Amino acid sequence: MRSAITLAAASLVGAASAGTPKTCNDYKIPVTVSSTNAVFGLDPFESDFDVADFVTTIASHTPEVSASVLSPFAVNVTETYTISATFCRPGHEKPDPKIENTVLIATHGLNFDRTYWDPQLDKETYSFVDWVLSKGYSIFYYDRLGVGESEQVSGYVAQLSNQVAILAELTKLIKGGHYVGGTGRPSQTVLVGHSFGSAITSEVLRKNKKLVDGVVLTGFSYNSTHLNGLEFLEAAGVRIAAQQQPGKWRQLDTGYLTTVDLFASVTTFFHEGYYDTEVARYVDDHKVPFAVTELLTGHSFAIKPIDFKGAALILSGRYDFPFCMSDCDGVLGNPGASIFSKAKAFKAISLPGTGHGINYHTTAAKSFEKITNFLAANGL
Ligand SMILES: *[C@@H]1O[C@H](CO)[C@@H](O)[C@H](O)[C@H]1NC(C)=O
Ligand SMILES: *[C@@H]1O[C@H](CO)[C@@H](O)[C@H](O)[C@H]1NC(C)=O
Repeated sequence: MRSAITLAAASLVGAASAGTPKTCNDYKIPVTVSSTNAVFGLDPFESDFDVADFVTTIASHTPEVSASVLSPFAVNVTETYTISATFCRPGHEKPDPKIENTVLIATHGLNFDRTYWDPQLDKETYSFVDWVLSKGYSIFYYDRLGVGESEQVSGYVAQLSNQVAILAELTKLIKGGHYVGGTGRPSQTVLVGHSFGSAITSEVLRKNKKLVDGVVLTGFSYNSTHLNGLEFLEAAGVRIAAQQQPGKWRQLDTGYLTTVDLFASVTTFFHEGYYDTEVARYVDDHKVPFAVTELLTGHSFAIKPIDFKGAALILSGRYDFPFCMSDCDGVLGNPGASIFSKAKAFKAISLPGTGHGINYHTTAAKSFEKITNFLAANGL
C-alpha cells in the first residue's frame, strides 16, 4: 500500500509537463501605499487558548462582544513595502513590443501564496499560469504582503485596506510598462482574484473604475445571505502558526494563524469526489499562514454597484463552502449582476463538482477554459 501511495505522489507532484514555452522574470518591487487600517481590539494572542477564546468572542450574538475584536478607531498609515512577484509571457524569443499584449494580474487568497496559480503539480491539470500562456496571455502574479517572499509584517497589520492599496499600485506600475519583462505597456489589463484575493480585486476596481479592462473574481460571491465567514473560521480550526510549525514559521508573530490540520483544509477548500487526496496533502503541506486582521477585514468589501464598463466574470465552485454555504447555484448573479450592471459583459458561473480551492480540483482546467473563453469573447 505504501509504495502505491508513493507512486501516486510521484506522478502528481513535480511531474512538470514539457508545457508551454514561456519566459518568466522574478521581481522584488518597492511600493509606497497609504491606507486606513483597522486595529486589532484584543491583546495579542499568547497561546491557542487565546485563539479559542477569540473564536467564541467573535461568534457572540451580542454585537458589542463580537465587535470587540476590532478597535473602534482606525489609523491612517503610509508605508513602503517590498512585494515579490513573477511575470510570465508566452514564448522564448525576445518580446516584440508591437504585439498586442493582454496582461492578467492575479491575487491569491488566504492559506496560499502566489504558487496557487502555478503549483508544483501536474501543470496540464493545475497550472493557471501555463493555461493562460498557452492562450497567448501574459500574467503577473505576486505574494500578498506578509506572505511568501513578500515583506513580512505583523499578523495584526496585514489586512484588506493595505492589500488593496498595494494591488492598485502594482497595477499602475504594470500599466506603465514596469515589471513586465521588457514587453512594454500592456495593450489591456485584467485583474484576477481568488477568494480574499477577489475581495481585494473588487475593492481596487471600485476605487479605480477605469484602471483595467476586465475582472475575473473566482472563489467569491457578493451574496451576503450565503457568506460563511464565521463558519469558515470555525471549520478551519485556526491555530497560531508559529507554535504549530516553529521550524517553518517561528519568525511570524502570533497574529499569523493557520488551519488545525489536513482535514480542516479539506473542509474549507475541497469538494469530495473532485480532488485527489495527494493534492489535498500537497495543499496542506504547502499551506501559508494568514493574518488575523485579514480574516477580520476579509468580508468588509463593499456590496454596492461598481461603475465599471469592462467585462466582469464571477466564477466559483458550485460547492464553495466559505462564500456560498456549499451551494453557489443561483447565488453568484444575485446581486452580482446588479453590481456589474454597467459592465459591457457580465457572467456568473457556478462550476459543477468544485469546492472553494478551484485550482486544486480535477476540474481546474475546465474553470481555466471558462475564464479564457470569457475573456476572448469580450475582446480581451
Ligand atoms: C484618515 O484619512 C481619511 C481620508 O483620507 C480621513 O477621512 C480620516 O479622518 C483619517 N483618519 C484619521 C484617524 O486620521
Ligand atoms: C442570494 O441569493 C438567493 C438565491 O438567488 C436570493 O434569494 C437572495 O436574495 C440573495 N441574497 C442577496 C443579499 O442578494
